[in-house]
Amino acid sequence: MSENIIIMGGGVIGLSVAYELQSRGYQATVLEIARCGGQASGAAAGMLAPYSENVEGPDPFFRLCLDSLRLYPQWVERVRTHSGIPFEYTKSGSLYLTYHEADRLALEGRLLWQRQHGSTGEIVEAPELFTREPLLSRQVKAALYTPEESHLYAPDYVRALEDACLRSGVAIFDQLESVDVASWQESIVLEARDGRRFEGDRLVVCSGAWAQELADTFGMPLPIYPIRGQICAYRSEEVGACEDGRPVRHMLFSNQGYLVAKANRSLVCGASEDIAGFDTSVTERGINRLRGWNKNVIEKLEKLVPFHQWAGLRPSTQDGYPFLGELDSAKRVMFAAGHYRNGILLSPITAKLVADRIADQAVPNYYACFSPRRFDIVRGKESIDHVN
Ligand code: FAD
Ligand code: GLY
Repeated sequence: MSENIIIMGGGVIGLSVAYELQSRGYQATVLEIARCGGQASGAAAGMLAPYSENVEGPDPFFRLCLDSLRLYPQWVERVRTHSGIPFEYTKSGSLYLTYHEADRLALEGRLLWQRQHGSTGEIVEAPELFTREPLLSRQVKAALYTPEESHLYAPDYVRALEDACLRSGVAIFDQLESVDVASWQESIVLEARDGRRFEGDRLVVCSGAWAQELADTFGMPLPIYPIRGQICAYRSEEVGACEDGRPVRHMLFSNQGYLVAKANRSLVCGASEDIAGFDTSVTERGINRLRGWNKNVIEKLEKLVPFHQWAGLRPSTQDGYPFLGELDSAKRVMFAAGHYRNGILLSPITAKLVADRIADQAVPNYYACFSPRRFDIVRGKESIDHVN
């Protein structure tokens, strides 16, 4: 009989893990306290941008992100085949903008190491830049063009994943209000608020920013914190469409934020990074800061008002790396949480690594760097070789 694997949390990570496990012959069961995709995953800008989101160097996290980007075309094809819900997936490429001549050196340095890791990027300067992006502010001096990066529409992607899960036989229980781990050492038992008990052979914790709540249960530090991202969208037709109804062709990054034009004719502009506990409200200050910056990217945005604004809680960890792997004390428990700014990008690789580990298959060396045990180790329990 196939193993029954319980997945705690129905965000993009939990749904991807469930979908992958079910595809490989396991019985996956997702437990969600509210609505699947109703937290960080449904709020995301949907950018698949390992090069623009990792500007320092090719550390293990960058390699995880890059491996995930490479899985995406096939992953999207699979999800689309199994799901009745369409979603946008656009290979737009990106431009990382700079506003000062002095920043060119930094761009060149970044391009150098990124080319060694698959980028076919180049530096594009004005006036060529304005041919490629006519609405771009003339304050911009140059940009790093990365053709490999893409984006999808996250709310639809998560709905499609949920649908693909259901159609392939994943059991999803949502609106459970609370779910606690009642037993995990000998067998896995989770208990919902209404008293229902769910038994399984293994547990995968995918509860995003809420995973920290399990620190006492497992008797180990789980430094995962919510970092609120406030984000807004303008109507593309008000900005001025340049191609297929979109004001810009590429995702536009800078060190202050990003803009990405969606097929649904919205120009999404994000995002703040606030410490606000588990509060998902939008503040005037947060949105005004975004608006104040956006005009430096597209001048016309100074006069426009976003038609939509929202916020989500990114699951951030103390060292910026996700928690990915099993517990020493309980091999039946795995973590897949803390994906911070890149959980949408990281959904295929997370699903693959979790399923590979469960099937006792080889995983890349960098996997060890994401062990959820690493903060226990910092407390002096044992040592670990970090792979670089
Ligand atoms: P979540 O989506 O938060 O899901 C966790 C789920 O667990 C929730 O549904 C919650 O209700 C549930 N839960 C909590 N406790 C329990 C429990 N006890 N039992 C059962 N269920 C429980 N990433 C990118 O890759 N690209 C982007 O462009 C991007 N843009 C972003 C923009 C913004 C504004 C924000 C906020 C985030 C963005 N991200 C982006 C990050 C991305 O959204 C997250 O990394 C990702 O959604 C995390 O997924 P998750 O499934 O771990 O968490
Ligand atoms: N990755 C974009 C964000 O987290 O805002």
